[in-house]
Amino acid sequence: MKHWGIAIDGPSGAGKSTLAKRLAQELGFLYVDTGAIYRTVGLAALRRGIDAADGPAVTAMLPELVITIGYGEDGLQHMALNGEDVTAEIRRNEVSACASKAASIPAVRGFLMEMQRQLARENSVIMDGRDIGTVVLPQADLKIFLTAAPEERARRRWEELRERGQQVELDQVLAEVVERDRRDRSRQAAPLRQAKDAVLADTTGLDLEESFQLLLELVRGRIGCVKGEKG
Ligand code: DC
Repeated sequence: MKHWGIAIDGPSGAGKSTLAKRLAQELGFLYVDTGAIYRTVGLAALRRGIDAADGPAVTAMLPELVITIGYGEDGLQHMALNGEDVTAEIRRNEVSACASKAASIPAVRGFLMEMQRQLARENSVIMDGRDIGTVVLPQADLKIFLTAAPEERARRRWEELRERGQQVELDQVLAEVVERDRRDRSRQAAPLRQAKDAVLADTTGLDLEESFQLLLELVRGRIGCVKGEKG
């Protein structure tokens, strides 16, 4: 049976994970959040007191990491670091910058590549990240580049952090979003950019439901009605 691959790339806060998760449910595909894998490496560096931007130090740490991705009964993705479930902890605000720094290191990207490709070989997937359409799944059936204005992305992220009980200023979140975009776009290794054959979807001014309908239309237009093809 053919396994479908849908790549959704874009900057942080564009709504990738929320929309990809819902689309995956709708289609019966596996949702793969690749940012969570980079976050797990960022968390490992943070815990060891290693500067996540220090290439040699982070590279030396990699052989000690056992990173596993699992799916619960609920279908939700869980990340484990050396056997410990770190799914909630990797969402902490401090981990975001560490993940982005570690993601600039080519050895980190190489280390995580096979895990991502294997999931796509074995399942129909909706995979979100920064380099899925350009590097990880260049043959994806559909590539979407999802974006929104930085101010709107910062506001969404700020609300999400507040809901989780993390008190941060909106200005600070905006500055972090802008800095993370800059780092993700300007790095040498697999920078964030729109693949030539990706469809641009801008969700500025759209609410969640409108954004979802926009993506669903793109999916239906490209791969038709494929509900229930998980696995
Ligand atoms: O999507 P996210 O915010 O959880 O991702 C965390 C960081 O990981 C982000 O700053 C960039 C990096 N990342 C990446 O470089 N490539 C991916 N495919 C996914 C995430």
